[in-house]
Amino acid sequence: MTFSIAKAEQELQTRRAALNPRWYPRYHLAPRAGWMNDPNGLVWFDGWYHAFYQHHPYSTKWGPMHWGHARSQDLVHWEHLPVALAPEGPEDKDGCFSGSAVVDGDTLALIYTGHKFHGDPGSDDNLYQVQCLATSRDGIHFERQGQIIDTPAGLHHFRDPKVWREGNDWYLVVGSRVGDTGQVRLYRSRDLREWQDEGILAEAQEGMGFMWECPDFFMLDGKRVLMFSPQGMAAEGYRNRNLFQSGYLIGDWQPGQPFVPEGEFIEMDHGHDFYAPQSFLTPDGRRIVMGWLDMWESPMPEQRDGWAGMLSLPREIRLGADNRLRMTPAEEVATLRGSYYPLLAQHLKNQSSPIVGDAEAIELDLVWDMNSATAESYGIALGEGLRIYVDAQAQRLVLERCYPQLLLEGSRSVPLPAADRLALRIFIDRSSVEVFVNEGESCLSSRIYPQEAQRQLLMFANNGDATLSSGGYWPLDK
Ligand code: FRU
Repeated sequence: MTFSIAKAEQELQTRRAALNPRWYPRYHLAPRAGWMNDPNGLVWFDGWYHAFYQHHPYSTKWGPMHWGHARSQDLVHWEHLPVALAPEGPEDKDGCFSGSAVVDGDTLALIYTGHKFHGDPGSDDNLYQVQCLATSRDGIHFERQGQIIDTPAGLHHFRDPKVWREGNDWYLVVGSRVGDTGQVRLYRSRDLREWQDEGILAEAQEGMGFMWECPDFFMLDGKRVLMFSPQGMAAEGYRNRNLFQSGYLIGDWQPGQPFVPEGEFIEMDHGHDFYAPQSFLTPDGRRIVMGWLDMWESPMPEQRDGWAGMLSLPREIRLGADNRLRMTPAEEVATLRGSYYPLLAQHLKNQSSPIVGDAEAIELDLVWDMNSATAESYGIALGEGLRIYVDAQAQRLVLERCYPQLLLEGSRSVPLPAADRLALRIFIDRSSVEVFVNEGESCLSSRIYPQEAQRQLLMFANNGDATLSSGGYWPLDK
């Protein structure tokens, strides 16, 4: 363990002891203390799932980036491990930025961005981002191998390498910014050390952003998916409402050929807080995605409690016949379930009906019959701060949060499914909610901040009636 890592570990121990747990997740991965952003290096290696993440151990705010580290047998019970990387080399002196992990024989390889300024850090002209390698045999201690790709001439923003194996080669996609155009660049290698520039894989058309962060490129159900997090897309109606987006293009690609996208950019998640998702494969071939369950520049009330940031649930993605992703909780999430509490099928008319008094950590499944509903709005409420409901006039499913004292207010929504049946799987943790609509047709994820006495869950129907066809919930536990 290097001096910088030992120091970070000590700091984390002290800070961990002082944490206020009121909003600390019961079943999501969050930093032991301090700050977390993007998931990094998601990988299965030697019998364990590993999740690394952007981490600042010394503060609840973003700062010189380290790689935090945890491992799990089942993607839901996580064990914290020592910080894996600290910004301590000339190539990453100002931060170990986002990146990915691959298994190379008996070695776990981390490929990440070294972030450094030459001179005054106030100006982008002095910014250099290079790609770096670190390797490990035990999956816990990493040896820094230094820079493997230098910043191309004229570029400054050049980060977030995602590596995969195809045939006899390694490929790497990396986000970049040229003027005000976001790009994804492609590289190829035989040995993870020497990389050949393969040009620009994709770049922003008009309005698609000035910088594409955290690209990921993979095969799914016969198509190629280019998933990335563009900065600088303008909001348009209900779309692109967050400061930055995360989404995907579907298309075709063969090594040596250009990527040919079909269709437009589609957002991954329609809640307030989902960014920088990264995917990985399970040993049985499922493609799983996890994202950062926050958004840049949003208030993060947990900062006053000694920590900030958490990751989403692991979500399996599949490609639908309509060329859109379907995102559902990974099957392992069901292992968190305690006893099942069924809810009676019922009609609600201008009334509310309690579900559970303290919904601190639960999964709630509800099926509404939209065909027979006359209510203008119906759905569920958690205390006074969160409602998830059908707005019959707008024909949308709305997630509305209302924590005015924390400066968090406003709603996000998706169109109602075409079917009569609205099936919702809703995961509530101490400070998050994730809603999966009709087997993953759409998804809404947001941070929430209920006070202890504000965790009663109820269902309601206003100005008319609504029918709950079936439902139930499971307390989720460790
Ligand atoms: C995305 C991002 C990445 C960068 C990292 C820095 O949220 O801005 O582009 O590598 O966070 O922490």
